[in-house]
Amino acid sequence: TSTGFDIRRIGGRIGAEIVGVDLSTDLEPALIAEINAALLAHKALVFRGQHLDDAAQLRFASLFGELTTAHPTVPSVDGQPNILPVDGDEGIRANHWHTDVTFVRTPPKASTLRSIVVPPYGGNTLIANSAAAYQDLPEPLRELADKLWAVHTNDYDYAAPKNDKAAEHRKQFVSRTYRTTHPVVRVHPETGERGLFIGGFAQTIEGLGPADSRDLLRIFQSYVTRPENIVRVAWTPGDLVLFDNRSTQHYAPDDYGDLPRLLHRVTVAGDAPVGIDG
Ligand code: SIN
Repeated sequence: TSTGFDIRRIGGRIGAEIVGVDLSTDLEPALIAEINAALLAHKALVFRGQHLDDAAQLRFASLFGELTTAHPTVPSVDGQPNILPVDGDEGIRANHWHTDVTFVRTPPKASTLRSIVVPPYGGNTLIANSAAAYQDLPEPLRELADKLWAVHTNDYDYAAPKNDKAAEHRKQFVSRTYRTTHPVVRVHPETGERGLFIGGFAQTIEGLGPADSRDLLRIFQSYVTRPENIVRVAWTPGDLVLFDNRSTQHYAPDDYGDLPRLLHRVTVAGDAPVGIDG
């Protein structure tokens, strides 16, 4: 129930379209609070056909906190230090499950993606509910996950780049190596909800070797990527998607060949993930 807009759920466990808000206008504090409440409840919000420009995307994202620089290693949009160009033509194709930038100590709490050019088919973004995944774990696995910490790094065993642009992007991405540990189970700082905090940058489990780490992470990750826990966003131009990085992972299928696809990403700074023991 909302006074300012309609919330239309689009997935069984994650995702809602927000209808009746013009994000290019000055939003009242009460409306911003309602959007934040909807974000906490639904984890991924889709605002269709907003057609914001860079300045309006920056303004909207900053309603939720301080902005991060575009990315620790990948260059920003020219003259826009807080905007990351997610450009398929430049080899930026995030076709692995991940939460943005978890290889730093304080990963962004939320991301906004704005569609500028989208292919006529394909090029969707899948977003998964990692808190539901935690709830889905059988109790012995949940108890195990509660105790574990994972090492996250941007330098991991990527699939071989499929062309020169992808190879160049990979080189930029790892131009400086980051490595940090986070609890495998993160307590959401605003809701208190527990969620699996792993994804593609989580490479090893502290105290385990590479083979056991991979097997265990694969089991936990299989609960995140269950179809029940995913919403699939099919972009139209001018959409804005806001998602909560503390309780989601996302994946951009590389299924659009040479068709152009360009999104701009702006992320909101977050705090260091906290596990169940504080
Ligand atoms: C990202 O991982 O931030 C980009 C997602 C996308 O290209 O849809």
